[in-house]
Amino acid sequence: MIRVGVVGASGYTGLELVKMLVTHPKFELSYLATTSGDTTIEALHSSLEGVVSHPVEKATVSSVVEACELVFLALPHKTAMGFAKGLLEAGLKVVDLSADYRLELETYEKHYCPHEDIAHLSQAVYGLPEYYKEALKTTQLVASPGCYPTATLLGILPFISYIDTTAPLFVDAKSGVSGAGKKLSETTHFVTVNDNIFAYNPLKHRHAPEIVEKIEKIHGVTMSVNFVPHLIPATRGELVSVYATLKEDIDPLAILKAHYANDPFVRVRERPVGIKQTAGTHFCDIFAARNERGLFVSSAIDNLLRGASSQALAAANLMCGYEEGLGLPRIPCMP
Ligand SMILES: NC(=O)c1ccc[n+]([C@@H]2O[C@H](COP(=O)([O-])OP(=O)(O)OC[C@H]3O[C@@H](n4cnc5c(N)ncnc54)[C@H](OP(=O)(O)O)[C@@H]3O)[C@@H](O)[C@H]2O)c1
Repeated sequence: MIRVGVVGASGYTGLELVKMLVTHPKFELSYLATTSGDTTIEALHSSLEGVVSHPVEKATVSSVVEACELVFLALPHKTAMGFAKGLLEAGLKVVDLSADYRLELETYEKHYCPHEDIAHLSQAVYGLPEYYKEALKTTQLVASPGCYPTATLLGILPFISYIDTTAPLFVDAKSGVSGAGKKLSETTHFVTVNDNIFAYNPLKHRHAPEIVEKIEKIHGVTMSVNFVPHLIPATRGELVSVYATLKEDIDPLAILKAHYANDPFVRVRERPVGIKQTAGTHFCDIFAARNERGLFVSSAIDNLLRGASSQALAAANLMCGYEEGLGLPRIPCMP
């Protein structure tokens, strides 16, 4: 068994990690931490009472190093790299769920903050298993993708060579409120969100440069991406609609099926997809349709799982030489 820990265990993605690690056949949950510690996981998350009992410590680099071989950082950006640096120097495997190691330095500093661990930045592998499987098997550091980039990239990457890449890509995304983390704000307040749907950070969201950069790295083309996220009155789930212009006569579903034939966690669907069918799972469901030159691609994920914690676990499995799907949730919360 490999000893693993979660720093940020009181948060939403931390909770999802704990739920999967409790039953993981090869990982032993050996360390949990938050800012202040001095509690237990069942006290932080009453839903875990009777399921798991584990102390939660105040997070320090030395306590993580003592207890773990691999650690998940379910922390805000900036805080995450503050921990990662020392953990990597001590030889631990690190899976970071924040944005700290996802982007090239210049892009990161333009959209987030000055980077504090430049030495390790170039070592990070982007944790999208369908595209970086081999690199994930040998890395010490994983930059787990953002939730919107996960759904967008899995949907559009199979089509890049068939679309007009000189035209902008339009990405219309909708997310459940857990995407914003556990901290309450006016935007995520029940009264603001309930019976409502609205765009936030239109054309300015930080996930747009992540989408642009990964299309560039994987396909060698620079595309302009018009990205508009919306908040919807749901707890979890994310639906991304991508609109592009075709330059060839293609069968979109046939392309998707061929592209993901060996990827068990991408389900190509014959009908438009929805967030409920993927809620509680690691699946990304994708549908695509076209008219004369218009291409519509729609992908659905659970933002807390495929968009964060189960994707981080899939990367950790690969880093440790295990099968990608070990311990990943497959049964949706339906109805
Ligand atoms: N939510 C999503 O759908 C989603 C999807 C993809 C990626 N992510 C990324 O994943 C990360 C975690 O997101 P989240 O939604 O789980 O956030 P969250 O619910 O706000 O939880 C954040 C966690 O970080 C802990 N923390 C903050 N500062 C800390 C410190 N100095 N030392 C130790 N613990 C500290 C908090 O602990 P305390 O209780 O002590 O404050 C809390 O457990 C973020 O970088 C986010 O961008 C989230």
